[in-house]
Amino acid sequence: MAHLLITGGAGFIGSHTCLTLLEAGHSLVVIDNFEGSSPEPLHQVAALAGLGPLEQLATGLWGTPDEPRQLLLLQGDIRSSSDLERAFNSSSTAAVEAVLHFAGLKAVAESIAEPLRYWDTNVAGSRCLLQAMATQGCRTLVFSSSATLYGLPDSVPIAESAPVRPINPYGHTKAAVEQMLADLAANQEGWRMARLRYFNPVGAHPSGCLGEAPFGQPSNLFPLINLVAQGQKPCLKIYGLDWPTADGTGVRDYIHVMDLAEGHRAAVQRLMNDPPQLLTLNLGTGKGHSVLELVRVFEKVTGRPVAWEGVERRPGDSACSIADPSLAQEVLGWATSHSLEDMCRDGWRWQVSHPHGY
Ligand code: WQD
Repeated sequence: MAHLLITGGAGFIGSHTCLTLLEAGHSLVVIDNFEGSSPEPLHQVAALAGLGPLEQLATGLWGTPDEPRQLLLLQGDIRSSSDLERAFNSSSTAAVEAVLHFAGLKAVAESIAEPLRYWDTNVAGSRCLLQAMATQGCRTLVFSSSATLYGLPDSVPIAESAPVRPINPYGHTKAAVEQMLADLAANQEGWRMARLRYFNPVGAHPSGCLGEAPFGQPSNLFPLINLVAQGQKPCLKIYGLDWPTADGTGVRDYIHVMDLAEGHRAAVQRLMNDPPQLLTLNLGTGKGHSVLELVRVFEKVTGRPVAWEGVERRPGDSACSIADPSLAQEVLGWATSHSLEDMCRDGWRWQVSHPHGY
């Protein structure tokens, strides 16, 4: 098994992927600046993986107790070359064989309000990481990209060949990092990389011990449905009832976070076994569900009513975004296995046990 560096491993997708990677036998070093998270998810990951509690080490890192330590955690920033050097050299027994890069900012509305902060963290941070990888002689990378970079698609389902046409700063930063990787692949030897374009990640680990814990007010639909169901918010605002869809509400491809984590495990395994290449893969279910469909399934699964009202469309929204996941299925032998009911059940279990996050 491999020693892997996980940037942003304390975040929603990152923490769930860390657990999946540990269960597959890999050892991990996580670097996270805790700007959008905290160490708590990784304490939960260590417990769920049966590795014992994370303890503070003389080096200032945190680590699971048994040598060789399966999980190390460094509070650091990918924009700091010294923090990255510490992360790459954190294990006394193993070199980092591959990097899974989750660290970044991901709220569309926030990116509109603070574009330079998004370009700094998402793009400048990724450049620093790639430079550190080249310096350390590690050229295997899985990048957390997003279907947001497709913008307003001409047609659905969306294949990887669809034009990249981001319509907000967040999407532009994802497209810029993708281009950085393409330039490396085309002009430098030895890079093995996968650009994974997520559709709409939702749900939580079935234990209820890991989940989505957005800092501040969430803007994504699924966390808001949970807050309304729990009574923390009075009513869900549905952005537009007049979309050209079956019931007039927006359609999206919701993917269970555990399926997404498995897609990352499969991708990094494939890269480590294969010659240099640049993969670009959609990670979605290939099935679309409207806002009202999701609300109704959530109510059925949880038994909790979700009050809603129709309001004006949200600027930048599209009517329908659904993945064509066939390339990921072909290349990785990966396919989603969780239903919309599973997403609602697991997400609600997390919400009930952690009403205010970690
Ligand atoms: C889903 C649907 C809304 C909130 C975002 C970002 C990006 C990406 C995926 C990482 C749409 C509707 C929403 C609400 C609503 N993540 N909605 N009322 O916009 O598809 O994508 O998440 O890359 O963060 O692109 O997700 O959950 O915001 O919206 O009616 O209060 O729910 O109009 O149809 P989106 P979302």
